Amino acid sequence: MAEATPQTIYLKDYTPFGYQVDEVHLTFHLSPKATRVVSRIEFTPKPDAVERSFFLHGEQLKLIAAKIDGQPVSPDVTAQGLTCDVPSTPFVWESEVEISPVTNTALEGLYMSNGMYCTQCEAEGFRKITYYPDRPDVMSTFTVRIEGDEKVLLSNGNPTDSGEGWAEWHDPWPKPAYLFALVAGDLVNHPDSFTTASGQDVELNIWVRPGDEGKCAFGMEALKKSMTWDEQVYGLEYDLDIFNIVAVDDFNMGAMENKGLNIFNSSCVLASPETSTDANFERIEAIIAHEYFHNWTGNRITCRDWFQLCLKEGLTVYRDSQFTSDMRSASVKRISDVIDLRGRQFAEDNGPLAHQVRPESFQEINNFYTATIYEKGAEVIGMLKRLVGDEAYAKAVALYFERHDGQACTIEDWLQVFEDSTGRDLSQFSKWYSQAGTPRIKVTDDYSDGTYTLTLEQSTPPTPGQPDKDPRVIPVAVGLLGQNGDEVRGTEVLELTEAKQSFSFDGLASKPVPSILREFSAPIIMERESTNAERAFLLAHDSDSFNRWEAGNTLAKEARVAMVLDAAAPDADYLDALTKLVRDDSLDPAFRALVLSPPSQSDLAQTLFERGHTPDPQAIYDAAETFAQTLAEALTDSLPRLYADTTVQGAYSSDAESAGKRDLNARILSLLTRLDGGEAAARQYDAADNMTQQNAALACLLKAENGEAQSQAFYDQWQGDRLVMDKWFGLQVACSAPKKAASAAANLTEHALFDLKNPNRFRAVMGALAMNQAGFHYEGGAGYQLLADNLIALDALNPQTTARMCSAFQTWKRYDSTRQELIRAQLERISATDNLSRDTNEMVSRILNG
Ligand code: BES
Ligand code: ZN
Repeated sequence: MAEATPQTIYLKDYTPFGYQVDEVHLTFHLSPKATRVVSRIEFTPKPDAVERSFFLHGEQLKLIAAKIDGQPVSPDVTAQGLTCDVPSTPFVWESEVEISPVTNTALEGLYMSNGMYCTQCEAEGFRKITYYPDRPDVMSTFTVRIEGDEKVLLSNGNPTDSGEGWAEWHDPWPKPAYLFALVAGDLVNHPDSFTTASGQDVELNIWVRPGDEGKCAFGMEALKKSMTWDEQVYGLEYDLDIFNIVAVDDFNMGAMENKGLNIFNSSCVLASPETSTDANFERIEAIIAHEYFHNWTGNRITCRDWFQLCLKEGLTVYRDSQFTSDMRSASVKRISDVIDLRGRQFAEDNGPLAHQVRPESFQEINNFYTATIYEKGAEVIGMLKRLVGDEAYAKAVALYFERHDGQACTIEDWLQVFEDSTGRDLSQFSKWYSQAGTPRIKVTDDYSDGTYTLTLEQSTPPTPGQPDKDPRVIPVAVGLLGQNGDEVRGTEVLELTEAKQSFSFDGLASKPVPSILREFSAPIIMERESTNAERAFLLAHDSDSFNRWEAGNTLAKEARVAMVLDAAAPDADYLDALTKLVRDDSLDPAFRALVLSPPSQSDLAQTLFERGHTPDPQAIYDAAETFAQTLAEALTDSLPRLYADTTVQGAYSSDAESAGKRDLNARILSLLTRLDGGEAAARQYDAADNMTQQNAALACLLKAENGEAQSQAFYDQWQGDRLVMDKWFGLQVACSAPKKAASAAANLTEHALFDLKNPNRFRAVMGALAMNQAGFHYEGGAGYQLLADNLIALDALNPQTTARMCSAFQTWKRYDSTRQELIRAQLERISATDNLSRDTNEMVSRILNG
């Protein structure tokens, strides 16, 4: 049981803080076990305040002294903060507190990682540093003095002065406390510079531990590209003299956008060809862009309260996906984003954790950094842009920056700029923010007398707390193909606003083949009777590359569904189409790789569940195996040549084209391994001069249970590199056969290099177990038990990472009663743990009761 009855926070209870913060001065006397934080904060009571009580958040702080206008005071202190009698005129609050960074394993507030001090304040970590109104609508300028023996002392804003053992920083831009940051350590930098469009020179640095200097160049290039892109596409410039990025090994999330001082999980910034895969490079480029883009969408304009989280995160994810589309391949990016959305967001939206893009209540805000807020939040922006058009979007966004710069805003503010600049009524559109759940659209069609009619019917299943839903406005992009494969109607956006609505197309000589939901124009599930012949036709002819892939993906899914339900043989026509596609050199290798990548186990489980079946993870796994084996055999004669043709020669380059080719090459190698038992993979392993190929070869060998030598060699080569060792830990579990996955994971938690306190290492093992669906759900429930054991152990150290990982259980109601009972027992065991954190308690009870 959690300690006290958890408190629920409601959006409807929002009241502004009664005091304005005019200036914040902080002095840090750093010491691992006893850091002293001295604050001097100027407050002005607001004349029109509704709430007069002076409450400052503060947790796990030892209060040494407090003063108002220089006079000692004795505030009422609780575990959540303090209240104090204060003057009704402007006053200066001063406090001194003591904190212990070295024992802070939650990695929230000020903590230590490998001897370096760093902070993580979003969402509510600043209250673990000093007493403060720790809420995003309280914005102020910060001046910071750091005293410590470390060589590098960093904070937000611009450096103003420094000397032996101290440094001072001033951030001229008012900001909420969640954007505060401090770093102190014996770090080295990779320096560069940037001149903004208006001619301001900016010093750029990536700060890392000595030894990692060689892994910064790619991140630095990504940063400069992001700065240029935001100027060119959104007209937004950087606004300080310096921009610092710091790499930290122990970090709960990927990265954090603190003003002028972004802090990154080292896995999301350090890159080299020898140690990073293509996927790592792509992610690093995207996340550097994401955090940089927050400088405007999040920092200059921030959130009024945490219910508005999607205001900054949905928009910034949307912006970083636009950036990646421009830097790489737009169609590949769209397809990968949809795969990710279906895998993570649809699972959330169709289970006990379903919540609105803008939630209306929470217990622990850290539990709401979800795929719904982020990825669905970004989809909502994409729909808005599609509905109003590109030009109107640009105009509205410009108005947003002009009207709200320096403010803490709401979703209403965001929608208002679109209403004001387009004249459009967005009240129905706003339901995308207030209604949870994935809409289903049932499509039927009719053709007579030259007119083709599409009838769309929308409905959204109940979600926790929301049994009934209203129709939403849904942009459905449609094109029509003639019998010969030519497009007879280009893409048109149908605006579905009613529960049921028909759209007609006249003047058609024959019944067309519809290509519906092009570019995945809305995050919905489409239900439409179709045939494999029609899907194969679209796969061959659709001009919309997303829908081409989608046709292939549906064929792939249907083939496996038939194998699972009817013990059918792999569909011959689909196999035939696939073997042709793989060999078609005129197609983009990255696209061929995507067509070859099987639908995820979780996606198949969800599909079966939707259709009223109880998914059997083992049967889904077996079908995937049989399918891949049959495909490999059908390609026997071509695989060696295909493998040779797609092998990228010469020096490694992380560009999208080479990466796409290597992705295709890896998928061919995995098919080839089914035929040669690992000969080609072993050769590739030996010859590899980059991590993408080394990692792919090792994965194939482990999967074939023929990689012990290479696994040992990999370990010997990389045991000194934390990030590469995370791959080694993860691969053992990811590549395990279902019945061995839990024991593989259990053994790894006993390994000398396993470290519960390092979130990357914990996720490498436990995340891989949860992702290995057939392994996690293997009969008997050893996977469930192992995960629960580890969650219980981690909760005492790091609630945030524990709570996030609980989502591995969110799909439990899909499965048979035996599995449900096994999972329920583990959830109840977690729930009964003494002193369970508020984070984990909320997640487990929502999963159990949702
Ligand atoms: N603001 C978040 C980081 C964050 C999340 C801090 C949760 C505190 C609690 C940051 O901008 C972010 O969204 N990071 C993502 C990566 C991004 C590319 C979507 C992350 O860390 O995973
Ligand atoms: Zn973000």
